[in-house]
Amino acid sequence: MTAVGSSTKVVLGGTRGGPDVATLRQDRWWVQPVVTVSILTAFVIYSTWAAFQNKNYYVGFDRDLISPFYSPCLATSCEAGASNSGFLIHTPGWFSPALLILIFPLGFRLTCYYYRRSYYRAFWWSPPACAVSDAHASYSGETKFPLIMQNLHRYFFYAGLVFNVLLTYDAIRAFRQPGLGFGVTVGTLVLVTNATLLWLYSLSCHACRHLCGGQVRSFAQHPWRHKFWKFVTPLNAKHMNFAWASLVFVALTDVYIRLVASGAITDYKLF
Ligand code: FES
Repeated sequence: MTAVGSSTKVVLGGTRGGPDVATLRQDRWWVQPVVTVSILTAFVIYSTWAAFQNKNYYVGFDRDLISPFYSPCLATSCEAGASNSGFLIHTPGWFSPALLILIFPLGFRLTCYYYRRSYYRAFWWSPPACAVSDAHASYSGETKFPLIMQNLHRYFFYAGLVFNVLLTYDAIRAFRQPGLGFGVTVGTLVLVTNATLLWLYSLSCHACRHLCGGQVRSFAQHPWRHKFWKFVTPLNAKHMNFAWASLVFVALTDVYIRLVASGAITDYKLF
């Protein structure tokens, strides 16, 4: 038992990023960065592969299912029936329509405050965890290119809302089975779940919460903003959960559509 008033001298080695810096943490603090690196790397590899495939992203025969990586399909190279807008950009046949739109969801994720924290820690070790020394000798913040681009987050948030509306429309269209009428298939549930998770991810965004309640001196004078702020605040507390759930599920959605479109599996009709 330590006597009152006594203390254990703690000496932390070196300065920021110094070679002799050590952490006093005894727990497995490295698990979280390793998991983050693994999931994000797997997602980037899979989504890049999927974006360049330029096939098996749409199921049009007695179903109406499109991969979120390819929606909205805005290229003239889109598969027949995949595009539901009158606006098409002329592209050569080999051009993958996913490449026209991926910058928006990608930019939204890349500039997300939560992901920034995660990948700065996991990939740059800046720092890798709380109370673990930084791997870099200096820190310039997000004041120079390319990191100054992180300030575009709120604009990617606006673009993300547009995509959410379009993917919700895709989910509603998935209730339609051409030639068979309306019904619910596994694919319908997959697209509905995907759209729901993307809405939760967007509505829990820090920029969204600021948009609802930021720069308000008195909520009494802004009752509607107060209502929105009260709605998004509990979601905001779970932003990390929605970030991971929506990331993993959007990839699983593409996998599912791809398997159905290629004929590897059948989209089972529930009712
Ligand atoms: S803070 Fe993560 S999406 Fe905005």
